[in-house]
Amino acid sequence: MPFRVKSLETIRSYTAKHQLENLNLKKSYFLRFLRNVNIVESAPLRQKNEIVPTMMAITDDEFARLRGLVYDRFGINLTKEKRSLLVGRLQKLLKATGFTSFKSYYDYLSTDKTGKALDELINRVSTNYSYFYREEAHFDFFKKNALPAIIKKQTRLNSKDIRIWTAGCSTGEEPYMLVMLMMEYLGINYNGWNGGVLATDISNTVLEVAGKGIYPEDRTSKVPAGLKKKYFICRDNSQNEVVDRVKKEVTLRRFNLMNKEFPFKRPFHMIFCRNVMIYFDKPTRDALILRFHRYLEPGGYFFIGHSETIGRDQDLFKYIMPACYQRI
Ligand SMILES: C[S@@+](CC[C@H](N)C(=O)[O-])C[C@H]1O[C@@H](n2cnc3c(N)ncnc32)[C@H](O)[C@@H]1O
Repeated sequence: MPFRVKSLETIRSYTAKHQLENLNLKKSYFLRFLRNVNIVESAPLRQKNEIVPTMMAITDDEFARLRGLVYDRFGINLTKEKRSLLVGRLQKLLKATGFTSFKSYYDYLSTDKTGKALDELINRVSTNYSYFYREEAHFDFFKKNALPAIIKKQTRLNSKDIRIWTAGCSTGEEPYMLVMLMMEYLGINYNGWNGGVLATDISNTVLEVAGKGIYPEDRTSKVPAGLKKKYFICRDNSQNEVVDRVKKEVTLRRFNLMNKEFPFKRPFHMIFCRNVMIYFDKPTRDALILRFHRYLEPGGYFFIGHSETIGRDQDLFKYIMPACYQRI
């Protein structure tokens, strides 16, 4: 039975609020569930005689090739359940650019030397959903425990460096939130520190959005009122813009986490890689976790998404709280 979605944003904010986004529920169960909480209506999607846009067909071989390419280049594991998602995300591009089959698109991808084709691909294939204060227990821990501990340690070492990296920062909500909390904690002393946040992502589309720092109301609704008043400017159409003094503390860079070497001179005090590794398979996650370990200071904090785990039977990190570890 088809359903009519009341509003995509309603679903997004509901699933985010109740942390349902990463549960991978079977679509039919999920829709039934959303109908029960009155988020979708059970009504036919289309009127009789209405023209229904057709999904472009993808053969097993075409899917296998594209899947292999996405995995090799970006680490993203498109399981067979993601097949229609892939078609859905790419068919508009294919139609707009005149490709009549996924085979011809794949040939273009493999022969394009400019890198533009792969850029377009990752911009479409990656899932970039994010919002301010997501998984707020981490931000509370950051403010009350992790940041004070690092500041204490650095003060003892007579250093003014705080090195934080958000890997897979998407549209910037996570790094901006961290800067706001650092500014709150350090107050007028913030400028005396070499703080800020390095924020990286593979998708240039999301980095452009992050650079602008302008967000619709639903992305900022979880920010405590006091912080919102202080660190955002309310623009027209319920858009909230991060103030410049926060923006300039975030260094945005394009970076593929699949790169074998990380180009950093000094290890970080904290790494946030939240809701990114969920798209990778276990061998990719394990290899990446080893690299994160190498680029964290001993005692440095490692935050991952709440639906992710690095397991407790390893001797690289100490478990601190759900989805938060400390480098041993
Ligand atoms: C769902 S967002 C997570 C955003 C934010 N960390 C959060 O928790 O709200 C996942 C991000 O990971 C990025 N990503 C996926 N594969 C990547 C890779 N190989 N290298 C760097 N970033 C990647 C995507 O482009 C996307 O913006």
